[in-house]
Amino acid sequence: MGKNLFAVLMIGLLAFAFACSKESGGTTALSLASFEFPLESTDVATGSEVYAEFCEGCHPGGEAGDGPKIAGDLETPAELRWRVRSGGDDMPAFGPDKISDPDLEALLAFTETFGAVKR
Ligand code: HEC
Repeated sequence: MGKNLFAVLMIGLLAFAFACSKESGGTTALSLASFEFPLESTDVATGSEVYAEFCEGCHPGGEAGDGPKIAGDLETPAELRWRVRSGGDDMPAFGPDKISDPDLEALLAFTETFGAVKR
């Protein structure tokens, strides 16, 4: 019985340590692979509104501003989704609380119009 309790405690401790180590990067590290799926949205109208609200300030019209030029970058949909959800050194991350999944797909469809993403 004593041994079993010890084992349970050790497993609990390991699980806790593992959970902590995963969070040690500050913001949760998102894997690119989890964003690998086809871009199906063609909702450019909604996407342009999302872009105006969240991106235009730093990437005006896809050009450089406080952020770099993204027009013509031809990133994959997964890369762009990852970038929006993860942010960067000087770019904020936008979680689903700010940009919903459907709005993110529409945003990609809009940025495709200036070649920031390629299906
Ligand atoms: C506060 C300013 C800011 C906002 C808002 C912002 N970005 Fe950025 N973005 C940046 C900066 C600065 C970088 C450079 C990378 C870094 O900071 O690590 C960047 C990088 C990028 C890149 C990669 C460019 C490259 O050449 O590697 C993409 C794509 C991008 N942003 C798209 C977006 C989209 C889409 C939005 C809206 C959801 C957005 N950004 C909102 C500042 C911003």
